[in-house]
Amino acid sequence: MPSKTFYIETFGCQMNAHDSEKVTGTLLSQGYAQVETPEAADLVLYNTCSIRDKAEQKVFNRLQNFKRDAGKGKIFGVLGCVAQQEGEKIFERAPHVSLVAGSASYTRLGEMLVQLEAGNRRVTGLSLDTEDTFDTPFTRRDNPHRAYITIIEGCDKSCAYCVVPFTRGPERSRTSESVMAEARGLAETGYTEIQLLGQNVNSYRDPSPAAWDFAQLLARVAEIPGIRRVRYTTSHPRDFTRSIVDAMDANPAVCDHVHLPVQSGSTRVLAAMDRQYTRDEYMRRIEWLKNAKRHYSLTTDIIVGFPGETAEDFEQTLELLDQVQYDSLFSFKYSPRPNTAALRMEDVVPEEEKQRRLVVLQEKQRAIQIRRNAELVGGILEVLVEGRNQALGQWIGRTSCNRTLNFTHPGTNGTGLLGKYLPVRVTRSGPNSLVGESATVV
Ligand code: 5AD
Ligand code: SF4
Repeated sequence: MPSKTFYIETFGCQMNAHDSEKVTGTLLSQGYAQVETPEAADLVLYNTCSIRDKAEQKVFNRLQNFKRDAGKGKIFGVLGCVAQQEGEKIFERAPHVSLVAGSASYTRLGEMLVQLEAGNRRVTGLSLDTEDTFDTPFTRRDNPHRAYITIIEGCDKSCAYCVVPFTRGPERSRTSESVMAEARGLAETGYTEIQLLGQNVNSYRDPSPAAWDFAQLLARVAEIPGIRRVRYTTSHPRDFTRSIVDAMDANPAVCDHVHLPVQSGSTRVLAAMDRQYTRDEYMRRIEWLKNAKRHYSLTTDIIVGFPGETAEDFEQTLELLDQVQYDSLFSFKYSPRPNTAALRMEDVVPEEEKQRRLVVLQEKQRAIQIRRNAELVGGILEVLVEGRNQALGQWIGRTSCNRTLNFTHPGTNGTGLLGKYLPVRVTRSGPNSLVGESATVV
């Protein structure tokens, strides 16, 4: 029998990237070989994102390109958030698709593959009432130094703009024992950085009798011999406790960076978004971090143009940027999503106004970043070497505070430094990255 091949393309967040690593590992374990183009594959999978409309459209554009291949033996599958959101409607919209499965059904992947191989052309995995998390021994990791570990799946919050509770289902935490076993195994095979993942990592709660909370889990993972860096994403301010800051302070392996999405600087808008915190409550968490024993880089997510956001509300968001001085931020124009509460809200902000606010916000943040990065010039930061820019003769490093630091290191080229931790002196800065030279005495 000729070997079966698959191609997978991934959209969206790190959870999706990691899901694709697990799906890939599972397929490899079932005798499939991975290929680099959809043309070369028997099975073409798109692991999709539906956080904003633009992300959702991408998969339909991809599928459209392959419409003519329908019936030529190629099998198409839509996985992830668009699959869960649109369900069987995808079969109508793109009749050459044979598999539609959301992330809560990946534990049944093997079974779904058997059905596809048997010729079933409408295979679905759309149930959200699973108690399971998708743990598999077959994960095929993309990065040789940094590994993702899912600690909690799903989300129990109900932010008015957000599709995630509908696409990823209710929260399910893994046992601390299985997380620790995976982390130890990764350390033993040479991984030095671990990124703990969850839509809301802070609400992690060990379902076993040990009953660890997130702060306890973070501290224990950071103590594993061989693990030099631990990151985590994403935090919800409501569940971000003082004990997390204490665990970070006490464990040097936890990176100097916290991503704490605020979404808006206006308490009124936060209430309309059902974020469950006020601006003051958010600022209290920022103060914990600013007064902590170590210096932490702070980053955030902001949505502009949520229904009912006035010019005054937006001003408050700008003023929050001045107050917090984030090291980086992701900003988005509000995009209406199916099933969400905000869909029914009035006072929609016109597209041009959303765009204007986005530009104003990004310009303000750019000025802040130029200033903050310039403060680092002259200092020494430790990087994990993640890549090489041959054309520039530079290595690409990442700092604990999650900045990219491109640097030169005399007498090295090829892949020699990849995966190493090195001190680098910062010599120049820009709005989005730093440049430096190795501070190792050669
Ligand atoms: N429109 C725009 N941005 C959104 N986000 C989530 N839902 C929407 C939406 N409907 C943003 C939030 C979140 C980030 C991952 O995406 O800022 O933190
Ligand atoms: Fe996109 Fe959210 Fe799904 Fe991640 S969880 S893929 S960001 S919709």
